[in-house]
Amino acid sequence: MSAPAGITWIAQSPASLRVLELAHKVADASTTVLITGESGTGKDQLARWIHGCGPRHDAPLLKIDCASLPSELVESELFGHEKGAFTGAVARKPGRLELADAGTIVLDEVAALAPGIQAKLLRVLEERKFERLGGNETLRMDARLIALTNTDLTKAVSEARFREDLYFRLNILSIVVPPLRDRRADIPVLAKHFLSRLGPVHGRPDATFSPAALRLLEAYDWPGNVRELKNAIEHALVFSQSPELGVENFPEIVRMSATHQTSGGPLRSLESLEREAIKATLEATHYKIGRAAEILGISRKTLLEKRKKFGLIE
Ligand SMILES: Nc1ncnc2c1ncn2[C@@H]1O[C@H](COP(=O)(O)OP(=O)(O)O)[C@@H](O)[C@H]1O
Ligand SMILES: [Mg+2]
Repeated sequence: MSAPAGITWIAQSPASLRVLELAHKVADASTTVLITGESGTGKDQLARWIHGCGPRHDAPLLKIDCASLPSELVESELFGHEKGAFTGAVARKPGRLELADAGTIVLDEVAALAPGIQAKLLRVLEERKFERLGGNETLRMDARLIALTNTDLTKAVSEARFREDLYFRLNILSIVVPPLRDRRADIPVLAKHFLSRLGPVHGRPDATFSPAALRLLEAYDWPGNVRELKNAIEHALVFSQSPELGVENFPEIVRMSATHQTSGGPLRSLESLEREAIKATLEATHYKIGRAAEILGISRKTLLEKRKKFGLIE
């Protein structure tokens, strides 16, 4: 699989590898893609990966954040405008649909699109045609659209906040990026990836994690997902003096959860305890399945299934 230059999708867990496989499959098509996932799970990263991996990688990738821009601005940024289309439109300005050419347009937080723009976008997706605001000339859209959302669009549809017909148009190829806590096998590889990228930036190219720090990262729930993990590593790099990043160097919120966990507090799911027990036993037995299964009191078959589920491959 040829990865686009400079953009990596680090994956180790079966769930994350599956995301990568889907992304690879859709990269070559021109069809609209909908990427759903909590904030910080890597939706932007994946959209860039898809663009960079497909035949459009030489054309621009342009992004519009539908949640942070006022809706009039989203509309003119998307469609462009003619001179005099509204107060302040002193000259013609091409929109992203035009500027993206045969590239990719990323609509971030698509659920936040105002109803009027939803209707216009639907037409663009159906007919591949649009006009600049205040203009008569009909232009053609060549770009591919990738829509991102961190909310359940079906819920927005049922609450009449999002057009159902537009939802169907967007949801032709859909990829769900699971939260990091549901793919914990990605945590150590992502952590090492960020350390190798951020270490040199902070003048610490040789920094490593202590074994306890790695265990801490693997046990924490990461409500802010991959973004939070990346920030926590940067925090530790800034606060540590020694070459090895220890538990004490990580943000308090990450450390606090560990305190609750080791004291048997209520913040721990049975599943994460199970994963930890299986992981420790596999490591202690050097991945001898028969021996580990015996110690854990489960069958080899169950152990193999759980090992796969938790992404605990040697
Ligand atoms: N699988 C991954 N491999 C490498 N970096 C990742 C991965 N997933 C997320 N990131 C990084 O984590 C941060 C948050 O990801 P981002 O794509 O902005 O999330 P989202 O758009 O879902 O909020 C970014 O710095 C991104 O580069
Ligand atoms: Mg984002």
